[in-house]
Amino acid sequence: MENGKKGIVMSGIRSTGFLHLGNYFGAMRNYVRMQEDYTCYFMVADIHTLTTHPDTRELKPNVQRVLAENIACGLDPEKVALYCQSHVYETGELFMLLNMLAYKGELEKTTTFKDKVRQHPENVNAGLLTYPVLMAADILIHRATLVPVGKDQEQHLEMSRNFANRFNHRYEDVFPEPFAFNFGEELIKVPSLDGTGKMSKSENQYATIFLSDTDDLIRKKIMKAKTDAGPSAPNMPMPDYIENIFLLMKLVSGPDTIQKFEEDYNKAAIRYGDMKKQLAEDMISFVAPIREKAESIRQDQAYLRRIMEMGAEKARISASATMEKVREAIGLKYY
Ligand code: TRP
Repeated sequence: MENGKKGIVMSGIRSTGFLHLGNYFGAMRNYVRMQEDYTCYFMVADIHTLTTHPDTRELKPNVQRVLAENIACGLDPEKVALYCQSHVYETGELFMLLNMLAYKGELEKTTTFKDKVRQHPENVNAGLLTYPVLMAADILIHRATLVPVGKDQEQHLEMSRNFANRFNHRYEDVFPEPFAFNFGEELIKVPSLDGTGKMSKSENQYATIFLSDTDDLIRKKIMKAKTDAGPSAPNMPMPDYIENIFLLMKLVSGPDTIQKFEEDYNKAAIRYGDMKKQLAEDMISFVAPIREKAESIRQDQAYLRRIMEMGAEKARISASATMEKVREAIGLKYY
């Protein structure tokens, strides 16, 4: 481990779909905070994408966009290893070896696998079945213990721990157990603009703010957010769709602004049109610089290439050191 760092962090970022405000506050902002104190490996999971997206024409622009957006959000490719899964060949070898420790039964029982089978019965490939094994290889290849992921990845992480423990018992102690890791406060939930659930890339596109949205689109989306005629008396409880607008405001507006609208609400004198206009402008001040920075990075092919090479190089140093230990532990050394 590098001097003075507190531990090894590893996470994978899917390269399908555009990044949105929920990704920013749920994941990217945490990565940015971790990069100062931890040895960090952040990877674009391009191989995992192939399990569900056999058409690869979108691969290159998607991978480049995800890299650009992460850097625009503050991830520093000098401080972390920011790389593509497919560039670390050692992961393929570890994946193959971990497959001997993964049981068909447990893979078939994985929630994400069962969901995929239901959604796409025509494309149940073995890569889908062994998705958690590849994810375990991604993590264990760096002997990482801290994995910032959302709830939906908990089961995969538990399987990674099981594979690590089986390896250690069958061969030799090589892998520490990886656990979900979130920085400081609880994960922030970013509510969607239609008053149902949280922002997500697959649900209502109009209820989600993407980091690539133009100023105008942000304005339109926010002005469409659900409101009502306003409270009929002072100090009424807030309906959840109004609370959501306040929650969004807390993410991007200043304390004075929030206080003003809270007071207006409690006096039953709030004007939701004004509130949404203010939120839209504050949202634009937040998103526009990220969007513009990401756009300029995307234009710079030479820079993108340089950071991908640099990331792969860092990741492969760690990966090949682990693979030396793995081959030794298994006994794949004949001279
Ligand atoms: N499965 C993760 C997701 O869908 C992405 C991922 C791939 C990942 N490899 C990983 C996450 C390793 C954490 C660690 O979001």
